[in-house]
Amino acid sequence: MGAYAENYRRSLEDREGFWLDAAQAIDWERAPSRALDDSDAPMYRWFPDGELNTCFNALDRHVRDGRGEQPALVWDSAMTEVVQTWTYRELLEAVARFAGALRAQGVGRGDRVVLYLPMIPEAAIAMLACARIGAVHSVVFGGFAPKELAARIDDALPKVIVAASCGLEPNRVVEYKPIVDEALRQTEHQPDKVIVLQRDQAQAELGPRDVDWRDALAGAEPAECVPVAATDPLYVLYTSGTTGKPKGVVRDNGGHAVALRWSMANIYDIAPGEVFWTASDVGWVVGHSYIVYAPLLTGATTVVYEGKPVGTPDAGAFWRVIAQHRVKALFTAPTALRAIKRVDPEGKLLAEHDTSCLETLFLAGERLDPETYHWAADELGVPVIDHWWQTETGWPICANLRGLEPMPVKAGSPTVPVPGYEVEVLDQAGNPLPPETDGAICLKLPLPPGTLPTLWGDDERFRESYLSRYDGYYLTGDNGYLDADGYVFVMGRTDDVINVAGHRLSTGSMEAVLAAHPAVAECAVIGVHDQLKGQVPRGFVVLKSGVDISEEKLREDLVAAVRDQIGPVAAFRDVAIVNGLPKTRSGKILRKSMREIADRGDTAVPSTIEDPSVLDELRPSLRGKG
Ligand code: COA
Ligand code: AMP
Repeated sequence: MGAYAENYRRSLEDREGFWLDAAQAIDWERAPSRALDDSDAPMYRWFPDGELNTCFNALDRHVRDGRGEQPALVWDSAMTEVVQTWTYRELLEAVARFAGALRAQGVGRGDRVVLYLPMIPEAAIAMLACARIGAVHSVVFGGFAPKELAARIDDALPKVIVAASCGLEPNRVVEYKPIVDEALRQTEHQPDKVIVLQRDQAQAELGPRDVDWRDALAGAEPAECVPVAATDPLYVLYTSGTTGKPKGVVRDNGGHAVALRWSMANIYDIAPGEVFWTASDVGWVVGHSYIVYAPLLTGATTVVYEGKPVGTPDAGAFWRVIAQHRVKALFTAPTALRAIKRVDPEGKLLAEHDTSCLETLFLAGERLDPETYHWAADELGVPVIDHWWQTETGWPICANLRGLEPMPVKAGSPTVPVPGYEVEVLDQAGNPLPPETDGAICLKLPLPPGTLPTLWGDDERFRESYLSRYDGYYLTGDNGYLDADGYVFVMGRTDDVINVAGHRLSTGSMEAVLAAHPAVAECAVIGVHDQLKGQVPRGFVVLKSGVDISEEKLREDLVAAVRDQIGPVAAFRDVAIVNGLPKTRSGKILRKSMREIADRGDTAVPSTIEDPSVLDELRPSLRGKG
């Protein structure tokens, strides 16, 4: 039996042994005597009697073990043309001091801290500082608008918010502080303090509740690590669900540290001292897990990159970073490669850089289309590894385990289930489907360590969203199939979540914005295929009778409203004004049919639906489509 098959079998048949062994790669304040607590199934907890500190494992122990002078974090800002290297010792000192500063502002174990920061070292410093004192961070992505930030603040109820004065986008300086101020005008909850990191590109105005990051540090005593229960929350990360209200995915300390450390060795094949670069944003789960926690838990060097794959300064930016920092493995989203390919299809800019250090390219966040896969594999000449996971799981569900046992790549598949995950494809009635048959991809409970134990403050929504559809299974929300070799093919979401340039968004929340316009009687938003971003949202609105507004003005209003209320990241630009929306007899809008028809791409559908029955007519031709 190969290493994969043996590990996979053991991870399910001897869960205790497998995960207690993996737990030995972590330094515990109190080592766990058990792995899984299933006493409250289907709610599970991992390492119930273990105690640890995640920041200790990410920093202190590496300094203790002689890695103090090794680079821990390299910040490469293509936006400001600055490169900074932080050794483990320097990063530890900065984190301990900022942890002391948070403590001086009254933050303690279990308190929440909302972080609204761009891709700067201080984002990682603030996250680790929270972990150090047992506080729970909740990072909000900078591309969200004040209203989205406000919704997260009112759910997480932070004691303190940490923000930067600005983020840098290629076409503009995005002032973050006014976004925080506006969010706090909308929230019921008010934090005690807002700590503001002033960047040179924009100085934020500080009010009575605001504290300059430097003033917060002045005189703060470095804080020691606070041991917490393995089951205590490390962070809450909000993600889009089917409704407008974001879901607060909870991550624990113990299971997370064990799973991420295991994944670095077995999936990503990264050892202590090696350089790993995840080109994403700390505001997404990919950034939490593989920019900050996993590389540092491993004693590797992580690259924090502020910039875009193209235009900063050119489409060779990624290759320059790889060559300059001797990156062993890069992890990004397929959309980044599509952006590069569009500008430099023949890889001329790639040829200008010595990327011989690169051994593997990992891609996730959205489906890796075979065309992009082949282009990347041909140009780079290294294995291109698709892997599939989600905010909820925190680490890969399916992957080609490069450190454990590399397997042949099949374009379009993220390969096989990772040890700990039992993947099944189910039909409507919950019966497992034979190979090559499309259905709902589900994970048999319990999920492995590192995955979400619940939603923040809402066990009920957790059960309802993920556990209630099929008894004994977690519903991923993705559909797809297994092939005869057990490879998994993930084809897309079954719900109203869309994936725009690797960013997960809810069409439900966009519909709420459109519906609030006084001229709109009803509306629907679906994701349609886009060459660059994978998907983009398209809105359909039906006007109230008798309203007097030009179509152009209405479109402008609606695009601006989504940008103002959800954020530029929604990339909402496409609105069709239609006479009616296709519905079932009971009045439910047939979004799925609209999606299927739009995805065929070969009909005029549906930038204008003059007559909604056109969709019904088109439906029969879709039957039997795999
Ligand atoms: N703060 C403020 N605004 C932000 C932002 C941030 N952190 N991130 C994005 N935005 C804005 C952008 O400026 C843009 O605004 P615009 O409409 O005024 O131009 C909008 O949100 C959309 O941004 P983005 O999705 O990044 O699109 P883009 O056209 O600027 O770039 C790509 C397209 C493909 C180059 C880009 O999406 C990319 O690099 N993706 C990498 C994938 C990734 O990081 N995925 C995360 C999960 S792995
Ligand atoms: P997020 O929670 O933002 O990481 O988004 C998770 C969703 O992105 C998944 O449920 C999938 O729909 C999609 N996704 C992520 N990785 C892949 C992949 N490798 N292949 C196909 N879809 C993916």
